[in-house]
Amino acid sequence: MGKPELLRLILGALAVSCVSLVVADDPYRFYTWTVTYGTISPLGVPQQVILINGQFPGPRLDLDQPFLLTWNGIKQRKNSWQDGVLGTNCPIPPNANYTYIFQPKDQIGSYTYFPSTGMHRAAGGFGAINVYQRPRIPVPYPFPDGDFTLLIGDWFKTNHKTLQLALDSGKSLPFPDGVLINGQSKPTFSGDPGKTYRFRVSNVGLSTSLNFRIQGHNMKLVEVEGSHTVQNIYDSLDVHVGQSVTVLVTLNQLPKDYYIVASTRFTKTVLTAIGVLHYSNSKTPVSGPVPGGPTVEVDWSIKQARTYRWNLTANAARPNPQGSFHYGKITPSRTIRLANSAPLINGKQRYAVNGASYINADTPLKLADHFNIPGVFSMSSLQTSPSAGSPFLATSVLPANLHEFLEIVFQNNENTIQSWHLDGYDFWVVGYGNGQWTQASRQSYNLVDTLTRHTFQVYPNSWTSIYVSLDNQGMWNVRSAIWDRQYLGQQFYLRVWNPIQSLANEYNIPSNALFCGKATKGHN
Ligand SMILES: *[C@@H]1O[C@H](CO)[C@@H](O)[C@H](O)[C@H]1NC(C)=O
Ligand SMILES: *[C@@H]1O[C@H](CO)[C@@H](O)[C@H](O)[C@H]1NC(C)=O
Repeated sequence: MGKPELLRLILGALAVSCVSLVVADDPYRFYTWTVTYGTISPLGVPQQVILINGQFPGPRLDLDQPFLLTWNGIKQRKNSWQDGVLGTNCPIPPNANYTYIFQPKDQIGSYTYFPSTGMHRAAGGFGAINVYQRPRIPVPYPFPDGDFTLLIGDWFKTNHKTLQLALDSGKSLPFPDGVLINGQSKPTFSGDPGKTYRFRVSNVGLSTSLNFRIQGHNMKLVEVEGSHTVQNIYDSLDVHVGQSVTVLVTLNQLPKDYYIVASTRFTKTVLTAIGVLHYSNSKTPVSGPVPGGPTVEVDWSIKQARTYRWNLTANAARPNPQGSFHYGKITPSRTIRLANSAPLINGKQRYAVNGASYINADTPLKLADHFNIPGVFSMSSLQTSPSAGSPFLATSVLPANLHEFLEIVFQNNENTIQSWHLDGYDFWVVGYGNGQWTQASRQSYNLVDTLTRHTFQVYPNSWTSIYVSLDNQGMWNVRSAIWDRQYLGQQFYLRVWNPIQSLANEYNIPSNALFCGKATKGHN
């Protein structure tokens, strides 16, 4: 066993930055982040953004709102205490600090973090977490000559508080104003001819699926959210909100500059972000038409999604091959079916799961659960299959037992694409299909070599099924990664519970836990 890597983050007052984790001699990494506002003009208009350690140049302001960061795809084993969402943590008040201590375990790959409170994510505050392999764990591809991290995402010129007020008043999120790569409108990535680079591409946007491609270059897919894939070659890849992919690109073309493109999917108007792949010996700027990609095609994307498969003989973060866990041979203990919807409740636009539109409690559910504070959340409001009743507001928690093995079907009867995320877990995405899921849909499942990931898409008027092994005790957020939907209620918490309390299953409440709402320090 290697030494555990402990990541300790001290978060000051509220980033685009990048955290690289690799286990060498010292397994402890300490980061002190100061979170502030700044002003930049990524789309030519000055706007307020969130900075971590002043990563964008600009004046520093004291943050005026409570804040949390969440760690997208970091599994937080036994440790929902550090998950950084309002159901598990009190928000960090302005001018205060909180230290997150956690251990990225059994994971190698490209991940992200972002603010989980309010619409802070519309102001930035996101970044990459690149987890490297331990020295004795080989990855199934040659060590690349360099690493590029690309955070791609839609972007709004409107201030995050204005967006939040609009959502609060019952309006929908507007169409984005543009797409950015690493918070910029035309970043350059330079490499040497003949060499092979690892591109870690994450969609950190609020609401829009993107297609990613590089002019004149193929991409070899090697990793998706911690899974080592069959290394297929792609011209372009769809990356839905909250997802990450890692590809290898060899600079084997004529020495010049090439377009890097991220463009919106499933939108009437196509927004495009451009970057530049620069050969170090190039004297020729980018030229020719910006390469096109798919725009509204759904079938193209479903077909591509089905080609993402596990390399069964490759290692995961542990030395045993990914294929040694035969997920397809396990009979799920139960099937849960969840349908998203976009109802009006009290005349306002909301989003819901099986009719339940989530509202935050004043007390983190995890603290209420720990201190047995009644009346904070409901374990009976969310039904386990779609219901015909009127939509309603609730602080909904779905109870489940530790070590259950679930089939969860996400049914999308809306005409828009969905992106769903489970905190604390990765899981097998066993099937995608059109129309209504039925028991017969199981015949199309990939029960041999689908990959595990933390965020998956559900196509318009379609379903996606996952298998998840509930091996991580805690209070875990299940949410739309599309941020206006999450903010207006398309989320709930999964309480993975074992009546016998043991530190082997779940860590104790951290000594530095913040208290708020009905949970006060005197409780125990
Ligand atoms: C965090 O806050 C505590 C208590 O207010 C203070 O003692 C400590 O110095 C602060 N730490 C940092 C890194 O700002
Ligand atoms: C799977 O991984 C192994 C290394 O464990 C590698 O040799 C092989 O080429 C990979 N197969 C595919 C199809 O990517």
